[in-house]
Amino acid sequence: DKAGFKHFMAKEIHEQPSTIAEAVRAYLPVGDDAVTLPDGGLDFTGIDRVVMVACGTAYYACLTAKYWFEQLARLPVEVDIASEFRYREPPVAARTLALFVSQSGETADTLAALRYCAGKAERIVSVVNVPESSIARESDLALPIHAGVEIGVASTKAFTCQLSVLLILALKAATDRGALTADDLADHIAALRGLPASINAALDQEPAMESVAKRLAEARDILFLGRGLMYPLALEGALKLKEISYIHAEAYASGELKHGPIALIDNQVPVVVMAPRDELFDKSVSNMQEVMAREGKVLLISDDKGISEAGDGVWQTIRMPRVHDSLAPILYALPAQLLAYHTAVAKGTDVDQPRNLAKSVTVE
Ligand code: F6R
Repeated sequence: DKAGFKHFMAKEIHEQPSTIAEAVRAYLPVGDDAVTLPDGGLDFTGIDRVVMVACGTAYYACLTAKYWFEQLARLPVEVDIASEFRYREPPVAARTLALFVSQSGETADTLAALRYCAGKAERIVSVVNVPESSIARESDLALPIHAGVEIGVASTKAFTCQLSVLLILALKAATDRGALTADDLADHIAALRGLPASINAALDQEPAMESVAKRLAEARDILFLGRGLMYPLALEGALKLKEISYIHAEAYASGELKHGPIALIDNQVPVVVMAPRDELFDKSVSNMQEVMAREGKVLLISDDKGISEAGDGVWQTIRMPRVHDSLAPILYALPAQLLAYHTAVAKGTDVDQPRNLAKSVTVE
């Protein structure tokens, strides 16, 4: 049942205010400013490092979480693609938390990586959407993301719920390690509880995204740029766009632009810059200027302040509400998803069943 939407993907994108609220409520029960984990939980005082392993969109959720664990909890994190990790057979040091992220909980490479870590890591934890899945069952602790059934092949609501749960887990690690003040913790918790309202405000911008998407649909190649927490999201935006619209898209950390990809820029190439007005914003403005100086078409996704500070010469803008800096990748997932969705609709592709793709990849 598509609940009146044209595609499951559209329905699932619009469900995010409630799925995120559900995930936040499950781990941050109302009336208590502390993280609550299920099944005896997890104590980070015995953990020295985290290894995160996943595939595709779930891998990008892990890359985002690396920033959170490192910045908030001062805990070193390695992130790996499951198919690389499992065959490289890396050493797993003592006091390592092995963390696996999977919507389906059945992805063959992720499951194999988990089995490799069993008996080596201190704890095996998974972040899954399907609680009775193989990955959940074989973990010491499974953390459900509460996204509900996801039918669209391109993951949307599962991604933002994965991010929400991973941020909450990083807050737990930060608290256990004494790395976060009570005030900072309370700020993050308040911001997470307010996130569904901001997601709704982002959804109000859908008409603007739809009209930009009609322009993107004419492009052959599209670049996505982001810095810090926005870099993994740039990767996710490019993946979402290519898998459903079949337009070639690539993402780079903004600072990498001048190390090669800038050679691709001309007046045919839209460059999507995801940049809330955070402490890295000035750096992103310099990168945009480098693109514009070569006639590249910048699509800036930012907040009011960012858009006004970016100045003239920007091709298109999409306006996001202002949120706590840590939460921006969750909020900015919305324009990444909606741009891909409306570009695909404009091109007339099969949005819910893109060619060559399966929802659950249970073979290598
Ligand atoms: C992209 C997408 C895939 C999955 C990947 C992992 O939109 O859906 O990249 O994220 O196949 O799947 P799970 O999370 O089920 O392990």
